[in-house]
Amino acid sequence: MASFFTHQLCRSFSSTALRSVAIKHVVIIGGGQMGAGIAQVAAATGHQVTLVDTSDSILQKAVKGMESSLKRVVKKKFADKPEAGEEFIQKVLKNVSTSTDAAAAAQHTDLVLEAIVENLQIKQDLFGTLDKAAPEHTIFASNTSSLPITDIASTTTRLDRFGGLHFFNPVPMMKLVEVIGTSATSQETFDSLLNFGKALGKTTVSCKDTPGFIVNRLLVPYMLEAIRLHERGHGSKEDIDIAMKLGAGYPMGPFELLDYVGLDTCKFIMDGWSQMDPDNPLFAKSQLLNKLVAEGKFGKKTGEGFYKYK
Ligand code: 3HC
Repeated sequence: MASFFTHQLCRSFSSTALRSVAIKHVVIIGGGQMGAGIAQVAAATGHQVTLVDTSDSILQKAVKGMESSLKRVVKKKFADKPEAGEEFIQKVLKNVSTSTDAAAAAQHTDLVLEAIVENLQIKQDLFGTLDKAAPEHTIFASNTSSLPITDIASTTTRLDRFGGLHFFNPVPMMKLVEVIGTSATSQETFDSLLNFGKALGKTTVSCKDTPGFIVNRLLVPYMLEAIRLHERGHGSKEDIDIAMKLGAGYPMGPFELLDYVGLDTCKFIMDGWSQMDPDNPLFAKSQLLNKLVAEGKFGKKTGEGFYKYK
């Protein structure tokens, strides 16, 4: 499996694909932090969005989250014009509808973007079902942090219309989107995804379908090495955080970032990579991380991780 990490994947673009599809309507599956953040940014840039999750209560929470994030955005953007700010929020929210029926939502959309739990089987089942419901032109994309897009796409018949769009938390603030093409993604699809990322106001980078793409492949081992350094007794978490903020200019220290991203997410990513490449010391497990996750201390979202939150 080690070869998976070093293998250079070449995208063989379809020569018949001439034009990229303009994405006007997007279905986002998953109303968690990432899904809601992507929905917010898409709606704020004039796209029609349907946000899908399994229950109305999750969707209501997601819309509330979008509203409070939008309030933070307009506080700066419309500092002198609070009424225009309120108008902007209402306009953005009008572009968002919600649904608990993914297949019905997928029937009328240009793009289905998934931001659900990091579980390959669940993602494969979802896309396998949606493949039968969505029109032919609809592009499918995953926001996976660590799983191969090729594997996620394998239950569909639209391998040429399948790619990755990887966003960063908090989506309204982070300026990057990684655009991932597999060996089967057509040039047309890849261009559509790139253009969509740009239409959201983000800077895009092109990535191969390798684990963690660019950012997570560098960031996650860095955060894990910070935990190991602390486990070895070579620095308190507070000092390591201060050191990386003031010495390297990072906006957050590694422990603050671990808590922000979610310790469960980081552990899941590392466990997956360690399984694929067990001899790679960068993917070595951390007892402290495993202990915190086993105790349900996932970080900011549960009120405690490496730090405690009110
Ligand atoms: N929505 C809207 N605005 C927001 C926001 C949000 N969710 N979060 C922060 N802001 C804006 C607001 O204007 C806020 O001012 P306010 O508090 O008066 O409303 C302003 O940013 C400053 O925020 P904070 O005071 O909370 O703190 P910071 O100045 O440190 O900025 C940050 C917050 C942008 C999150 C910054 O700390 C940062 O960039 N941290 C690093 C984040 C990072 O590395 N993300 C990537 C994680 S990896 C990932 O997501 C991939 C996945 O696959 C795991």
